[in-house]
Amino acid sequence: MSLPPGFVDELRGRVSLAQVVGRKVTWDNRKSNAARGDWWAPCPFHNEKTASFHVDDAKGYYYCFGCHAKGDAFGFVQKTENIGFMEAVELLAREAGMTMPARDPAAAAKAAANQGLAEAVEAAVQFYRLQLNTARAAEARAYLDRRGLAPATRERFEIGYAPEGRTALLDHLKAKGFAPALLAEAGLVGLPEAGGSAYDRFRGRITFPIRDARGRAIGFGARALTSDQQPKYLNSPETPLFDKGRTLYNIAPARAAAGKSGELLVCEGYMDVIALAQAGIEHAVAPLGTAITETQLQLLWRLAPEPVVALDGDAAGRKAAQRLIDLALPLLTPGHALRFAVMPADQDPDDVLRAGGAAAMQALVAASLPMVELIWSRETEGAVLDSPERRAALDGRLKAHLARIADPGLRAHYQAEIRSRRAALFAPPPRPTRSDRTGTRPGSRPATIATAAPATRASLLGRPTPGVEAEARIRECAILAGCLNNPGLAAAFEERLDRMPFSCADLAEIRDALLSAVTGAPEGTRLRDAVAERIGRDPMPDLLAPGQVRANRHLGPGADPELAARAIEEELTRHAAVAGWRAELIDAARELNAETAESVGWRLRDAAEAAHKAASRPISESAEVDAEAEEMLSAGLQDLLDRQIWKKPRKT
Ligand code: UTP
Ligand code: MN
Repeated sequence: MSLPPGFVDELRGRVSLAQVVGRKVTWDNRKSNAARGDWWAPCPFHNEKTASFHVDDAKGYYYCFGCHAKGDAFGFVQKTENIGFMEAVELLAREAGMTMPARDPAAAAKAAANQGLAEAVEAAVQFYRLQLNTARAAEARAYLDRRGLAPATRERFEIGYAPEGRTALLDHLKAKGFAPALLAEAGLVGLPEAGGSAYDRFRGRITFPIRDARGRAIGFGARALTSDQQPKYLNSPETPLFDKGRTLYNIAPARAAAGKSGELLVCEGYMDVIALAQAGIEHAVAPLGTAITETQLQLLWRLAPEPVVALDGDAAGRKAAQRLIDLALPLLTPGHALRFAVMPADQDPDDVLRAGGAAAMQALVAASLPMVELIWSRETEGAVLDSPERRAALDGRLKAHLARIADPGLRAHYQAEIRSRRAALFAPPPRPTRSDRTGTRPGSRPATIATAAPATRASLLGRPTPGVEAEARIRECAILAGCLNNPGLAAAFEERLDRMPFSCADLAEIRDALLSAVTGAPEGTRLRDAVAERIGRDPMPDLLAPGQVRANRHLGPGADPELAARAIEEELTRHAAVAGWRAELIDAARELNAETAESVGWRLRDAAEAAHKAASRPISESAEVDAEAEEMLSAGLQDLLDRQIWKKPRKT
């Protein structure tokens, strides 16, 4: 339908926004100034106690200083009533006494048809309710008693009974003047395609009316009384009125409750919602027998910023949750999140309430998990990550999930969270000889290179290697300085920095601060300042202490990003080669006492070869190892260490 020019503007001029909003909020009378049309209230769109929501009645605009919601009267009505623009115009026009222009014939006919369908469904709701009190509903009432549904709850959810028999509802509604064709279109009766007589869709079932956000009856869920009656729940079919993917069970009451509490609980079934309401938890909704759709998800977020999804504690429940996560990831924003409350095995909220009351349910909600936790556990639980390939595959999967988050700020936080979990997972298991020396905390990212006890090292290499450690420190300083001076590169090397073992705890600390600053610092903050704030000192003087770092202009501020990237890359590669090689040597040394010389010999050779590859430098002929050559190899390795072969790699 198109509106005549000026209609909306005239309507906007006629309605008082303050009056429209005033129905949904309680004004803060001290802060408001009625004479100036200046109104303040706690925001109806986010949960708050203070009055940050402002209405400028003269201009007809609202703005929330808390959640930045803004708009005019139409927007406000659309949002609060969960309706479209045209519907909002209609609603406000009716209130303002303005006659809506004639609809185009098709739309007018459709609205009239829907009106007729809604009237038929409403008549069915009332019929079924009355039936529940009749003699033939004794079994149904007994069933509801067994399930603990109090009379007040039955009233409130308009629970009814569809009697046995083919045409109880049909006869009743026909007598009231409803045409069978209309009843069929409303999903209340079936019309056999072969042309037989119409029959009631719901027979011998308990009925749960489904109402849309405006309170219109649009369909039913109907439960069997016994397990031999299949399916357990029979729902209305899709009709012009009943679009299962666009609304939720209990939407209107839950919206009101969520507006007050700021909370929203999403469960799987009608009975869960009803049992929750009976236990005093009014802000629950459920989908209508189908998986949650994107439209429903957006609807949930209009009711609350962080709905809690009650997850049935079985495989099907977990699967449903994972589907929901896949759906939600690209739609997440800071104000659109999800949490998951995990029910005990094979229980739904209804069962939880029966066993432990509202307190038990509230405890589960309080212990609900953020979405990142479910993503993480989906990918890692039960996964065997015993090889670089498998770990890389895990990285790939996690990355793919993160890439689907559209909101950049949120994505950064997810990345940071996943990174720290990942580091904890991949951290080497604490071994006494390592952690004693280096302070590696179990479950954190590798802080420093594992260092062998001096005695062990001496037994392998003949003497300690202070030169190597100094080299490592210089390289680490170079990498960190390069990244701090080129924040774009810090982000690019994020993962490798994360995995990199540091030889010195003070540098590991700078790395940690840098990584959290890369993702967490507010826009526009200098990376160096953000790191300084985290560690309580300027990191630069330490990093620039080695002359080689100061001298490398590719690592300084304002360096050509490509050359800087190459310089950092080079340092990272050599560092990794040496660190890996050292770790191997140290491991071999640790086993020296326990294992045969032969096996140590093999390990030394492997280590030497790995180092050789990584440093792109040929090792001596002695790589052809046998038991007698072991001595020589050991000496050769020492030689390589002494000559610091990784320092000046020659292309071969
Ligand atoms: P459940 O099988 O988990 O049932 O289905 P429930 O909600 O716990 O119900 P009670 O406690 O046994 O009475 C969850 C939801 O899935 C839909 C319904 O919406 C139900 O509430 N459903 C289930 C169907 O649409 N058809 C079915 O046959 C079963
Ligand atoms: Mn149940």
